[in-house]
Amino acid sequence: MKYCVADGDAMRALGEALAGVFRAGDLVILSGGLGAGKTTLVQGIGAGLDVRGQVASPTFIISRVHEPRAAGPVLVHVDAYRLGSLEELDHLDLDASTDEAVTVVEWGEGKAEALAEGHALITIDRPRGALMPEEDPAAGDRAVTITTVGDSWKGRAWPVGGWTA
Ligand SMILES: Nc1ncnc2c1ncn2[C@@H]1O[C@H](COP(=O)(O)OP(=O)(O)O)[C@@H](O)[C@H]1O
Ligand SMILES: [Mg+2]
Repeated sequence: MKYCVADGDAMRALGEALAGVFRAGDLVILSGGLGAGKTTLVQGIGAGLDVRGQVASPTFIISRVHEPRAAGPVLVHVDAYRLGSLEELDHLDLDASTDEAVTVVEWGEGKAEALAEGHALITIDRPRGALMPEEDPAAGDRAVTITTVGDSWKGRAWPVGGWTA
């Protein structure tokens, strides 16, 4: 799937829609540079899963567990930026909870894949040639591309809507 996302609110809306596709046990890996919109997307996923607590960019906290308000999976939000290796991720003891959780790992590409049998990789890019508006360097379209690995992801109905490229 590929989506074109105009601003932060649209990124949150996309996350909310994607939350409807995710299930307990899913591993979702987010790739994209600093300020790409990874945490913004996770905020939307958190809203869609209706979990407690504010999804934030963790400065010192590497992983955070957000419990659901009602029935539904837990959201485990990991920022792997400071983690060098999978061994360090393993030490966080994430696998203990991954069966009941939707686990979303920022900066997880090349580090987090082994946490589950399969995963969804969500890559957030600025389209080539996009201009950075001077007044707000963070503004501008993002291209969001989702690829999946593993049988459990087959046949899922990805959202189509205002963000679809
Ligand atoms: N199209 C867009 N998609 C996502 N975020 C955007 C977009 N345009 C502007 N932004 C802004 O860019 C910033 C992205 O920050 P953040 O989600 O923390 O990035 P990351 O976690 O990838 O470092 C936010 O301030 C957000 O409002
Ligand atoms: Mg972030």
